[in-house]
Amino acid sequence: MQAYKGFSKEELLKRKNELSLKYESYKKQGLKLDMSRGKPCTEQLDLSNGLFSHTNDLFTEDGFDCRNYGQFDGIKEVKDLFAELFDISTEELFIGGNSSLNLMYDLIAKAFNHGLNGFEKPWSKLDKVKFLCPCPGYDRHFAITELFGVEMIIVPIKEYGPDIDMIEALVSEDESIKGMWSIPMYSNPTGITYSDDVVQRLASMKTKASDFRIIWDNAYALHHLYDTPDKLADIISLCRESGNPDRVYMFGSTSKVTFPGAGIAFMASSRENIEHIKKQISKQTIGYNKVNMLLHARFLKNVENISEHMKKHAEILRPKFEAVHEILEKNLSGKDVASWNKPNGGYFISLDVYEGCAGKTVKLAKEAGVTFTPAGATFPYGKDPKDSNIRIAPTYPPVSELRTAIEVLCVCVELAVLDLILA
Ligand SMILES: Cc1ncc(COP(=O)(O)O)c(C=O)c1O
Repeated sequence: MQAYKGFSKEELLKRKNELSLKYESYKKQGLKLDMSRGKPCTEQLDLSNGLFSHTNDLFTEDGFDCRNYGQFDGIKEVKDLFAELFDISTEELFIGGNSSLNLMYDLIAKAFNHGLNGFEKPWSKLDKVKFLCPCPGYDRHFAITELFGVEMIIVPIKEYGPDIDMIEALVSEDESIKGMWSIPMYSNPTGITYSDDVVQRLASMKTKASDFRIIWDNAYALHHLYDTPDKLADIISLCRESGNPDRVYMFGSTSKVTFPGAGIAFMASSRENIEHIKKQISKQTIGYNKVNMLLHARFLKNVENISEHMKKHAEILRPKFEAVHEILEKNLSGKDVASWNKPNGGYFISLDVYEGCAGKTVKLAKEAGVTFTPAGATFPYGKDPKDSNIRIAPTYPPVSELRTAIEVLCVCVELAVLDLILA
């Protein structure tokens, strides 16, 4: 990327002056806009208020009283629903609490403390544990592995998924590479979906470590923005067919279907993996919130109803994503100062600004009253080696605020580049 190709120094200075005036005028407006986290907006949350109208009785279809202890791995209604949604058997499923992130944390903690199914020893007994981290990625994933002292290796994300040639080469040689984070559908933040070839190769590749595990965080599996959704291959079946049945653990939740923090989360894997981890989890809880599971099963009803419900989310979100694209296009295209993705779903737009300018851009925006996710957050240890990636989370603010925030961002992107190339 060569920014402002063909611009003379005078033209660059003129542009900088124009933008500085614009920036100062934004600063005077006393803006307070927060674009930092991918949360549903109030209108989206309102779509699920019907959840509370299903409390007439709290017994499952087979007569189990959800107010009491029991059915620790989830009630049948929810298991049946998720099994159909993800085309897996109920024996391959565990319904946990409200948070998939919590289940992922717990899996890593168990891998370290006790070992998972098929491990010779827990990872805590090893000198070194390394994880592959497709980047840009989800800061909270990287925070978990950082906490456990895992060495994280950046794997670049391409338009078809993570660099699979690099992954195959690394895992075939290094026994200390024990795992990999992944957000295979409408990835956070790049919005890409892993191609069939990538999924097949992840399932079948030879790994030096027999206890190599993939964390398949399918957080955005249902979150399409358009009627022509991306499609993701079924990694659980592919792993089984490739002779690596225990390689993958899939996660998801209804956090952005119903209510974040008050939804239901699940983990799916081979029967043996689920059987094994159920024994471990049974030591830490007598069971999760089955009242909430029942209300969800009654409210979400079936696969067709969920699809209709998600279309209502998409109707609210589409104009927001399109507003961001329109403003980025209007202000930044043709200058070679930034590039961005146009995802078919998910919660984010990933903006790559001119190398060395992300931190400065986010700082300028903050000083003008617009908060973005800190630059670097999409990389392990919060360090983006190119200082280039900025995650835009368009879902929460109203469209009018979002438009202002992105206009401000565009001014800051250009100012940061101009500062760098005029220095
Ligand atoms: C990729 C990804 N995984 C997990 C989560 C959190 O999910 P949960 O609410 O189920 O813990 C998020 C939230 O933003 C996310 O982006």
